[in-house]
Amino acid sequence: MIKYVSRVFINNLLDQTDIVCLIKNKIQLKKKGKNFFGICPFHLEKNPSFVVNSEKQLYHCFGCGVHGNIIDFIMYYENLSFLESIESLSNIFSIPIPDNKSNNFKKIYKKNNIYYKIILNLSFFYKNSLFSISGEKTYKYLLKRGFNLYIIKYFSIGFSPLFWVNNILNNIKTIKILHEKLGILKVDKKNNNFYDVFYNRVIFPIKNIKGLIVGFGGRVLKNKNPKYLNSSENNIFHKGNELYGLYETKKENNIIKKILIVEGYIDVISLFQFNIKYAVAILGTTITNNQIKKLFNITNKIIYCYDGDKAGIKAQWKSLKMSLPYLVNGKEIKFMILPDKEDPDSLIRKEGKIFFEKRINNSLSFSKFFFKQLFLKNLFSSCEEKTHFIYTALSYIKLIPDYFFKINLIQQLGEKIGIINFINIYNPIKYKNKTIIKNNFKKTTIRILLSLLIQYPKLIKFVPKLKFFKSSNIYGLFFFIKFVSFYKNKNMTTVKILEQYRGTKIKKILEILVTWNHMIPDHKIEKFFINLIKKLKINILENRIEYLISLDRKEGLNYKKKQELWSLNKILHKKK
Ligand code: UTP
Ligand code: MN
Repeated sequence: MIKYVSRVFINNLLDQTDIVCLIKNKIQLKKKGKNFFGICPFHLEKNPSFVVNSEKQLYHCFGCGVHGNIIDFIMYYENLSFLESIESLSNIFSIPIPDNKSNNFKKIYKKNNIYYKIILNLSFFYKNSLFSISGEKTYKYLLKRGFNLYIIKYFSIGFSPLFWVNNILNNIKTIKILHEKLGILKVDKKNNNFYDVFYNRVIFPIKNIKGLIVGFGGRVLKNKNPKYLNSSENNIFHKGNELYGLYETKKENNIIKKILIVEGYIDVISLFQFNIKYAVAILGTTITNNQIKKLFNITNKIIYCYDGDKAGIKAQWKSLKMSLPYLVNGKEIKFMILPDKEDPDSLIRKEGKIFFEKRINNSLSFSKFFFKQLFLKNLFSSCEEKTHFIYTALSYIKLIPDYFFKINLIQQLGEKIGIINFINIYNPIKYKNKTIIKNNFKKTTIRILLSLLIQYPKLIKFVPKLKFFKSSNIYGLFFFIKFVSFYKNKNMTTVKILEQYRGTKIKKILEILVTWNHMIPDHKIEKFFINLIKKLKINILENRIEYLISLDRKEGLNYKKKQELWSLNKILHKKK
């Protein structure tokens, strides 16, 4: 994979690709005026509210609010990282990524390619071993645990026989990579031979979202510690990025309404065998930010379904905390509490699919689980305890980006602790929430100008050199002047400007500005813009004059400032 692309290349890419052409290949689009409409691929809907604008090279969904450029589309649709998306686009549109001298991308890419190949070959070997004489015991074990041949093959389950390494692997390079880079072979200090860390274990190959095997999990047959071993972290395997079953879940469903997150490999495999084909496993650790992001990219509902013991509930609470920043409007998490000592595998075998699905449907909502756990964890008999409790609860709720969800939770918190109208006492707006820019985002002259410039970058030629006074209190003027001087004489497009601000705070504001509909017919935009610039110039002058007058009142003006005031008044008079 590439490690770096320049801004110049990204701009080039945006110039040479076409968003309509790309999306048309993925979903059906119908042309209406300048726009193309289709069914949104990012949420469930019946009527098309997904719009692609070919002029601006952007998409927007009025249903779920997703929006972005061609890079964003590929990122979310194919579930790729930023650089992977660039790479994919460069392939689709045949735009070669220039070689960079300092980073030899191709070399790195090739090196990883070898790892994938070696791991794949090893997994073939494990798979075959399961069906050979050495794997007989393991195969019987799997059958005894209730797995059928179809599911064993579907998940490419295998077996690592004892002492196979030196007999079979005579390729030094492969051994070296398995040892040094992938951590699968280790050296036995007694006889200096290599051995497989997974020897004598059932092997579960772990696939990444694209279906490439990146590592293994191995379980002992007889209960011995450690029960499971996982591949160690290496170039292509990062435990915290992968989810066992994610590739299969994606493969089996066009639209993924919900995803169950379970703890173990066995749980995923059992659920799939029982036709519940939307389960993934965190690999024995707590869920990570990356994993939550990955899941919310492909589904709107995550259900945490951990083992029915104390550790399971604890892990669910941890997952709740981790998920808070991702609860935007439309995304939800739920909690399935299993009976004590059960895990999804044991339970579905006991109860069957229908009962298990009933449990899924009855899983606890966020608010139910949240308050239940919170009340279990906290005492609040005294005034002090109650106060502490409120602050604890708020510290979690505060992290949720969905404004109305937050308000409702705060209101419920008030009801639960017996404070009437709590929301009026603690109003999150007063506590400066950065995510609600939209609500108090007024249409100032500067913002309308910026909005027009982003939507019609050619207008930039009508912006004259503007004077900036330090005393000026016109909000945003400094940014506007900087913006104009940066983009002047550059061949810019809407999509390139937005791309420039990826990952910055300003991006959110520009994203709002780009959606403003000014209701001006195309042929009148220039005139409108020029008039607005005139207005801005007058604003700047008036602002300065006001300042000078007030300064005069306070401390009097020196000769130079008096001159300035006089000439500004004259200019203003002319302009009006
Ligand atoms: P569990 O101990 O719950 O195992 O570990 P399980 O999934 O129920 O498996 P069976 O039914 O006993 O065969 C859950 C997950 O935790 C990780 C593994 O990923 C496992 O799937 N784990 C567990 C480890 O990484 N190491 C261990 O020693 C144990
Ligand atoms: Mn189990």
